Amino acid sequence: MGNNKIWQGNSTFILAAAGSAVGLGNIWKFPYMVGSNGGSAFVIIYLICIFAIGFPVMVSEILIGKYVRKSPINSLKKLSEEFKLNTNWKFLGILGALAGVTILSYYSVFAGMAFSYVFKIFPQSLENPSQYSSDYFLYLSSSPLNLVFWHTIFLFFTSIIVGLGVVRGIGRSVNVLMPFLFFFIILVSIYSSYIGDLEKTISFLFNPDFSVITPQIVISAMGQAFFSLSVGMGAIMAYGAYMPEKQMIGKTVLVIILLDTFVALAAGIAIFPIVFSNSSLQISAGPGLIFETLPVAFYSLPLGSIFSCIFFILITIAALSSSISLLEPFTAWIEETGKMNRISIVFFLSILIWILGLGSIFSFNIWSELKLFGLTFLGLLDYLTNNIMLPLGGFFVTVLIGWVLPKEFLKEHLKLTETFFYWFYLTLRFIAPSSIILIFLYSAF
Ligand code: PFF
Repeated sequence: MGNNKIWQGNSTFILAAAGSAVGLGNIWKFPYMVGSNGGSAFVIIYLICIFAIGFPVMVSEILIGKYVRKSPINSLKKLSEEFKLNTNWKFLGILGALAGVTILSYYSVFAGMAFSYVFKIFPQSLENPSQYSSDYFLYLSSSPLNLVFWHTIFLFFTSIIVGLGVVRGIGRSVNVLMPFLFFFIILVSIYSSYIGDLEKTISFLFNPDFSVITPQIVISAMGQAFFSLSVGMGAIMAYGAYMPEKQMIGKTVLVIILLDTFVALAAGIAIFPIVFSNSSLQISAGPGLIFETLPVAFYSLPLGSIFSCIFFILITIAALSSSISLLEPFTAWIEETGKMNRISIVFFLSILIWILGLGSIFSFNIWSELKLFGLTFLGLLDYLTNNIMLPLGGFFVTVLIGWVLPKEFLKEHLKLTETFFYWFYLTLRFIAPSSIILIFLYSAF
């Protein structure tokens, strides 16, 4: 064991991993992707991917992290040495660490935007609040300077927490913050259902029309499942290294996945009723969806500004508990080389990430016409990371655990009942890797 930093009690690991999983992917991305990809058919494919692919990948990642107790790259390296495997397995960790910093470069831009809404107060008695919020979003996203400012602030907070060390910083904060987030998302979805069009929302979310499904939608649903669960890049593997020895992996993963799915669906129920009851709001608005709709919901509420402020603080916190896990794998790896201290590593990495983030910022404004493979710079990073790098990482993790390592190793460390183990092993070996490959092939041809 290379690490003596272990979280105390079972709840800290669950909350930290749920903190990594629950983030902008649930509250910002899931609703707009459902909105732009035809609704419930997307939701169903997403849920299948979460349980059939995400579950075994998350279990495998935690298992590796918990067993070796090092950064993902070194955990994979050690594991290959111990089991006399090909040394190239460490590249799986490198691919993940790179995906992490790439995702963080645009994640921080959107999280910064969410943070800016904490300070945005709607003027009293507007004629048309939804028009006002759309105009405000346009104003914010068309100003590179504004976006750079908020991107810098968010990245700064992320670096401070990661720089200070994950165990104490994250361990303590998630215990307080995550329950708050759950409480608020439930409150807002009840409120939206009450003032908005719940009926249309339910049919949009749960009444599938599979004729709208295209290969592109299937691969996006899979990408979103990976992104939302934070799997395929080592973030959860890095946290696995801090999991208490006695904690059971299977049960824990189930709780994390259920929490993540619950928050994504609750976010849909918080947002769609408002969109459906406002003719000036578009369900397929894309990345601006929550920024244009949530302020409208809060506007009509007594003490709306306070509610709005609290809600955007919570989104920012959810984003922060995810962004730290994006930066951790790379940081932990360099730290283990012993050549640099944690603060300097985080500082240099953050500068690189900050620069990469500028490309995403410009995609909203001065580079909005610049297209590579038909996508903006931001669109391309998003596609590459979520739809290619994370699923590829997930595929190789399932191959490593399901096909390369001995079955006995798994049995010994998972401690599942015979029946559960049977189903889990089947999913891990066959269902998950073949679904990833099939979805890749389906979307390529
Ligand atoms: N799961 C996070 C979200 O839904 O916002 C994003 C994320 C965090 C993706 C960490 C990947 C990751 F490794």
